[in-house]
Amino acid sequence: MKKFKKILISAGPTREKIDPVRFISNRSSGKMGYALAEKAVDFAENVVLVSGPVNLEVPSGVQCINIESAAEMAAAMFHESHDADLIIMCAAVADYRPKFVHDTKMKKSDGDLTIVLERTTDILKTLGENKKAGQILAGFAAETNDILENAQSKLERKNLDFIIANDVSSSSQGGFAKDVNAVTIIDRSGHREVFDLCSKKELAGKILKYIAVY
Ligand code: PMT
Repeated sequence: MKKFKKILISAGPTREKIDPVRFISNRSSGKMGYALAEKAVDFAENVVLVSGPVNLEVPSGVQCINIESAAEMAAAMFHESHDADLIIMCAAVADYRPKFVHDTKMKKSDGDLTIVLERTTDILKTLGENKKAGQILAGFAAETNDILENAQSKLERKNLDFIIANDVSSSSQGGFAKDVNAVTIIDRSGHREVFDLCSKKELAGKILKYIAVY
């Protein structure tokens, strides 16, 4: 079922430099995003994956653009988004980055250290503000509390067609770095579809099928 011309997916963490040897990042392994990219080949003529640093093989038939920072991910996503008819943001993008990046390795001294952080671009929100006619935009919401309410609010704030609510409060429900996951997809009308715990690959197929036949 090749329903889409181009599916654009983001995966993995971003890394925000503090100095040449240190960065701020998170526990995303890329497994969920790579599983989506692998399955997306069955749904689209072209599949482009924008990936943060992960230890995974690029699935066959997928074009992968490797990035490190949130700014690099934003640039790649905006560049690739113009002709994409389905975009899924699965990456765990840093919301903040150090305001000053040191050119040389920072030396320790006695006492505390304060690192000033500034906001990164909200890629998904920007994509939502510039959504093309016929383009479907889906995001993930990694939540630890008030899962569905917070996810629904992200769908509205970012002008999305679907939000995939991911409870990351307990590793028994999957989430970061696990091979399994459980999610609830919420659409614009507020309809909620529950996908119980299964492998990320199986879940990826179910998510894409749900969006494709919607
Ligand atoms: O990679 P794995 O180990 O397999 O784990 C999968 C996962 C838990 C990372 C994944 O399933 C998931 O939930 N991804 C979303 C992580 C996240 O950053 O959620 P959020 O609720 O903070 O962000 C909401 C949405 O905005 C996400 O689609 C995110 O990609 C996007 N975002 C966030 C910040 C930002 N600056 N720009 C964005 O586009």
